[in-house]
Amino acid sequence: MGGAGSAEGGGDAPSKAVEPAAAARPAATAGADVPAASGSVPAEETVVTGGFTGPPPKPPRRERVPLWAMPVLAILPLWAIGYAGAFGERGTEVSVDPIVVGQSVYLGVGTCAGCHGPAGAGQGAFPAMTDVKATFPNFDDHLAWIRSGSAPVKGQPYGALGRVATGAMPAFPNLTDEQVIAVTCYERIRFGGQDIAELPQCTEDAAIARAGGAAGSGAAASAESH
Ligand code: HEC
Repeated sequence: MGGAGSAEGGGDAPSKAVEPAAAARPAATAGADVPAASGSVPAEETVVTGGFTGPPPKPPRRERVPLWAMPVLAILPLWAIGYAGAFGERGTEVSVDPIVVGQSVYLGVGTCAGCHGPAGAGQGAFPAMTDVKATFPNFDDHLAWIRSGSAPVKGQPYGALGRVATGAMPAFPNLTDEQVIAVTCYERIRFGGQDIAELPQCTEDAAIARAGGAAGSGAAASAESH
C-alpha cells in the first residue's frame, strides 16, 4: 500500500512540477516584455527574435547521384583531357614562332612594356628598344642582360654604347629559356630593325628544334650518322 501510495505520489509530483513550469512561461514572456516596454530593448527586435525561432526547418536536400550518371561522370575527365589537348595542339602551332611568343612575353608576363613602352619607345630613365643591336651586337649578351637585369652592373657602363646602368631593370627568373630567346628576337627584329636572316635562332624552325620534337631529334640523329 505504502509502495503504491508513494508511486502515486511520485506520479503526482511530476505533474505538479509541470504546472509551475507552464505557469512560468507566460511569466518569463512578461518579464521579457518589461525591458522592451521600458525602452532598453526595442520592441521590434523582440518581435523579430521571436520570429526567427518560428520558421520551420528547411527539408534537407538530397543530392544523390543517380546510378545512370556514374559511367558518364567516370568518362568526363577523359573527355576534358582530350578537349584541352585539342586546344593545346592548335595553340602550339600558332605560338611557337619566337616573334609571336616574344611579343606576348614583352607585353605580358615579362612586363617589359611597362617600362620600355608597348612600342619600345622607352620613357624617362627606361631606354627605347631601338638601339638594342648597337648596345648588344652579340645576341647572347642581349640574352644574358635580360636574365640578370641591370642591378649587377648598377652605376657601371653596360653594352657597346657604354651607357651607365641605374640598376632599375629587374632580373626575370620566372621566364623560361625559350621565352627569353623569344623576347630577345622580338626586340631585335621588331624594335631594333635587325633582319631575321641574321638571326637563325629566331626562326620558327629553330624554335621547333629547341622544343625537342621527335622530328627535330630524328633529324639531328640522321645528320650525325652521315
Ligand atoms: C622596372 C623597369 C624595367 C622592366 C620591367 C624592364 N626593363 Fe629593360 N631596362 C630598364 C632600365 C632602367 C634599363 C637601362 C639600364 C639601367 O638603367 O639599369 C633597361 C635596359 C634594357 C635594355 C638595354 C637597352 C639599351 O639599348 O640600352 C634591354 C635590351 C632591355 N632593358 C630589355 C628588357 C626586356 C626584354 C624586358 C622584359 C623581359 C625588360 N627590359 C624589362 C628597366 C626595365
